[in-house]
Amino acid sequence: MEKLIIKGGKPLEGEVEVSGAKNAALPIMASSLMADGLHVLEGVPNLRDIKTMISLLEHIGSKISWAGDLKITTDNYNADEAPYDLVKTMRASILVLGPLVARLKKAKISLPGGCAIGARPIDLHLKALEAMGAKIELREGYVKVSAPKLHGANITFDKITVTGTENIIMAAVLAEGKTIISNAAREPEVTDLACHLVNMGAKISGAGTDKITIEGVANLRPAKHKIIPDRIEAGTLMMAAGITGGNLKIKNFPVEMLQTAILKLSEAGLHIETGDTYAHVKAGPGLKATNVTTAPYPGFATDLQAQFMTLMSVAEGTCIVTETIFENRFMHVPELQRMGADIRVDGGFAVVKGIKRLRGAPVMATDLRASASLVIAALSAKGTSEIRRIYHLDRGYEAIEQKLSSVGADIVRAPDGDAR
Ligand code: EPZ
Repeated sequence: MEKLIIKGGKPLEGEVEVSGAKNAALPIMASSLMADGLHVLEGVPNLRDIKTMISLLEHIGSKISWAGDLKITTDNYNADEAPYDLVKTMRASILVLGPLVARLKKAKISLPGGCAIGARPIDLHLKALEAMGAKIELREGYVKVSAPKLHGANITFDKITVTGTENIIMAAVLAEGKTIISNAAREPEVTDLACHLVNMGAKISGAGTDKITIEGVANLRPAKHKIIPDRIEAGTLMMAAGITGGNLKIKNFPVEMLQTAILKLSEAGLHIETGDTYAHVKAGPGLKATNVTTAPYPGFATDLQAQFMTLMSVAEGTCIVTETIFENRFMHVPELQRMGADIRVDGGFAVVKGIKRLRGAPVMATDLRASASLVIAALSAKGTSEIRRIYHLDRGYEAIEQKLSSVGADIVRAPDGDAR
């Protein structure tokens, strides 16, 4: 196990570049199962979740090499399943479901099980596949899906689901006839997947809106693709700059993907100058308490909620942070309280009363974005903090300590003998 040791109080200054988006790379990697031949993916971030997806695709039969570009060839299949030991470490493994059913007409996927932030069911994925003609069997913690030939259907998701939308787009691309997905997720990562599938020969329109139409085709060809930058990493870096009183230019990301977050950060007192692909963040004289409610894209991203809460823990005044997407996404609160934060949680609401300054302490990461919120807290706290179980952080942030120390943070990675 490893930990991060951070000495707080250093303003982040300079320029930093954003890596490729994990949540775009994962479905796009899974889509390589849908066409023989060589898929070449550029800008795939070096993250634990990416390595887990590589292991899963290799288990299924893909041949993968990763030197700069990620190259995936899937000409034969050894398995049509995603085993529990892989799925339990990354629920996004469910993204091989749509491709396997579309291509092999069957799949056996370990049920993802819950994670720190919630139950994470896949009922909406399965209901939609059933509507397309798939037979679903739940047995011994696995879901077996089979369909001699998937057919198009009118699918309405009663809840917006990102990977649900992605799975059904992939299933529909090789189904017979037309599929219309209503109440579809509009996240940019869904659009990036659709763009790659169209380059593979799919017929998709409406990606990025809440109504996506797919005309089934007989087969697909492999394609090259550059993964879009990670808007959540960009937003996390903006908040790190804000809380440390910094002056940071965050480059290489489409700013329009973070409009709501930029609006909220400006309301909170950050001075943000933006171009098409950069945001220059300067801390103002102080942070102002600002209410935020998470929502599906283009609303305020749930993946930025924990980081924003840290910012608000040292803002002037009291605000309410409302989490509407996941039922248990306040795991960072007890850890922030150990650093002196004054936060009271009631169901999906957190009342955050700003204090002058957080105090460094040993804290524990519990999930990916909670660990990012603890890093931000430690960067601004008085004294030194140790953040344990940072394998959570490594799932979604590439070379985080290199990036942060390159702009002035006092942060080192060290072995953590205390493997509690
Ligand atoms: C994706 O998860 C992201 N992961 C998450 O990012 C992100 O937080 C989430 O979307 C919301 O934006 C990937 O893209 C790999 P959902 P996903 O299905 O697709 C309920 C990170 O930090 N639901 O949009 O699993 C669900 O319980 C990760 O990078 C059902 O009830 O989320 C939740 O309350 C964490 N039944 C809501 O919908 C279903 O069948 C939204 O979940 C599916 C979902």
